Amino acid sequence: MSTLLTNLGELMTQDQEQRVLRNAAVVIEGERIAWLGAAAAAPAADDVFDAEGRALLPGWVDSHTHLIFAGDRTAEFEARMAGESYSAGGIAVTTGATRSTGDYDLTRLALGRVAEAVSQGTTYLETKTGYGLDVEQEARSARIASTVADEVTYLGAHLVPAGMDADDYTDLVCGPMLDAVRPYVKWADVFCERGAFTEEQSRRVLRACRNAGLGLRVHGNQLGPGPGVQLAVEFGAASVDHVNYLSDEDVDALAASWSGWDAGSGARGTVATCLPACDLSTRQPLAPGRSLLDAGVPLALASNCNPGTSYTSSMAYCVTTAVLQMRLSVHEAVRAATYGGALALGRELGNDVDGERAVGSIAVGHRADLHLLNAPSATHLAYRPGMPLTHAVWRAGVRAR
Ligand code: NIG
Repeated sequence: MSTLLTNLGELMTQDQEQRVLRNAAVVIEGERIAWLGAAAAAPAADDVFDAEGRALLPGWVDSHTHLIFAGDRTAEFEARMAGESYSAGGIAVTTGATRSTGDYDLTRLALGRVAEAVSQGTTYLETKTGYGLDVEQEARSARIASTVADEVTYLGAHLVPAGMDADDYTDLVCGPMLDAVRPYVKWADVFCERGAFTEEQSRRVLRACRNAGLGLRVHGNQLGPGPGVQLAVEFGAASVDHVNYLSDEDVDALAASWSGWDAGSGARGTVATCLPACDLSTRQPLAPGRSLLDAGVPLALASNCNPGTSYTSSMAYCVTTAVLQMRLSVHEAVRAATYGGALALGRELGNDVDGERAVGSIAVGHRADLHLLNAPSATHLAYRPGMPLTHAVWRAGVRAR
């Protein structure tokens, strides 16, 4: 079965050449993109979808979310808006609510959040454990996450539970807890921050998880300057996320991790993932996305959807903020929210024949993950902030909205 999407006012491919085509068309065949080019030259297909001049982008790739949770932190948010500052301690509130929620409800809640994201154009999504914080509960979160998300990250090292010694808990994270989650996860993460895990504890977690064959990510430099970025680069982590408080040395280390990178090969450095919705909700300074890009560091934008610091899965909101307040161009912001997310998840390259297809860009052989805006160009994402601009979504070639 093939479908021709034609009469596209703008086709923002985010492919290797970063092409933007006008009056374009795309052909979907099964789960893959089979053709793209000028509408006038489009081949015939089984079905035709007239986009009536609308803009087509790759679906959003949300590379950082925490969707496996129950409960609500409205009171904490209200206190923050009244002047309190965010601290990692709120994680314990969500852990309590999550532990006392059964599998069925926890899955239903997570699926509802995924559905919200897809309805706004997200077609590929990572999520984390981190609100279980004991062996049984982290394994349960990982198992549920593996049924609702495309990629799962183990974040046992999110907070040291009350009453536990931090080093004893780190032993648990690096030992029995890691063994229990291992069947369900591809990535491991650590919250390397004052009030969460020290540099030495983070190092132990990253070493153990790397030895277990997991890819690495780090929550770093969110609440103040710290060792997170340097640690991420040292361990060859795929991404370091938050990056609000960076020294020149941090930016240099991230840039150096990409020296000699060839976009067509798998060898890569550490992506800087900015989470602007979180920065606004916690009243932290926005991550320096502009300076990172200018230094040559590939950027991802992600929602960080979670009940504490960023209760939104709107990638459009992140893109709008990145343009209006972080001074990215629309093309740069959309790239960070599509191709950049794929790069942070190691999914920007694919095998058209017998492997996983690339996501985050529109090119022949890539997964047909597409986001049609109810607007003639992607510029409207910033020009009309907050407007419901998602018109249609295809996920692996299937109409999802
Ligand atoms: O990415 N920084 C640590 N983890 C989450 C917040 C978790 C919470 O407060 O519930 C984040 O912002």
